[in-house]
Amino acid sequence: MNDALPPGALQLGPLHCAWGPYARGRPAEPQVRAWMAALLARALDEPLPRDAYGRPRLPAEAGADASWSHSGGGLLMALGRGVRVGCDLEWQRPRPRALELAQRFFHPNEAAWLAAMPDAALRDRVFVRLWCAKEAVLKAHGRGLAFGLHRLEFAERGDALALVDCDPALGRAQDWRLHAFAPAPYYLATLAWSPLP
Ligand SMILES: CC(C)(COP(=O)(O)OP(=O)(O)OC[C@H]1O[C@@H](n2cnc3c(N)ncnc32)[C@H](O)[C@@H]1OP(=O)(O)O)[C@@H](O)C(=O)NCCC(=O)NCCS
Repeated sequence: MNDALPPGALQLGPLHCAWGPYARGRPAEPQVRAWMAALLARALDEPLPRDAYGRPRLPAEAGADASWSHSGGGLLMALGRGVRVGCDLEWQRPRPRALELAQRFFHPNEAAWLAAMPDAALRDRVFVRLWCAKEAVLKAHGRGLAFGLHRLEFAERGDALALVDCDPALGRAQDWRLHAFAPAPYYLATLAWSPLP
C-alpha cells in the first residue's frame, strides 16, 4: 500500500498545522524548520535546542511553540503562538495488543471503557484515538510517554475526546484543547494545546 500522506494544512485559533509526505529514516527537523521559518518570517537555519527529555524548543524571541510527529509515510507539524502545543500522528493498523496495553498503561477508567467494547475493530479505533490524545498532551508538556499514560484520563464528550482529569503537573484538565482529525485514510492526527503555564 502507498502510505505517503498527501499535503494539507489547517489553522485553529492560535495554531497552525500542516502535514505531508515524509521519507522514513530521514531527519524530520529540516523540513519542519523550513515550514516554521516561512510562518514566522524569520530564519531558522540552526538545529533547535532540545531539553533533557528531547523536547525541541523554538528561540524565545519567536514567541511560539512547536511540535511534530512522523508515522508511516507522513509528517505532521504544529506551531502555536502563546500556547504550548503537542501533536501526534498515527498510521492506523490492527492493534492485537490494544486491550493488554491499555490495561497495563492507561488510566483504569479508559481500560474499563475499552474492555467493555464488544467489537475488536471499534476497540482498536478508540485505542488509537486515546493513544494519540495522550501522546499529544504529553509531548506538549515535554516529558513524553515516560511521564505516565495513566496520569491523564480522557472520556468521550459528544464525538470527541476530552481530558477529564490529569496530574496537576499537566495543568488544569479543562484548559486543554484537543483536535483530532484524519488527514488521509489510515491516518489519525491529534493536536493538543493549552495556555502557557
Ligand atoms: C517524545 C515521544 C512521545 C515521541 O514519540 P514517537 O511516537 O516515537 O515519535 P513522534 O514521531 O510522535 O515524535 C517525534 C518527535 O517528538 C519530539 N520529541 C522528542 N522528545 C520529546 C519530548 N520529551 N517532548 C515533546 N516532544 C518530544 C521530537 O521533535 C521528535 O522529532 P524527531 O524525531 O525529528 O527528533 C517519545 O519518544 C517519548 O516519550 N520519549 C521519552 C522522552 C524521554 O523520557 N527521554 C529520556 C531522556 S533521553
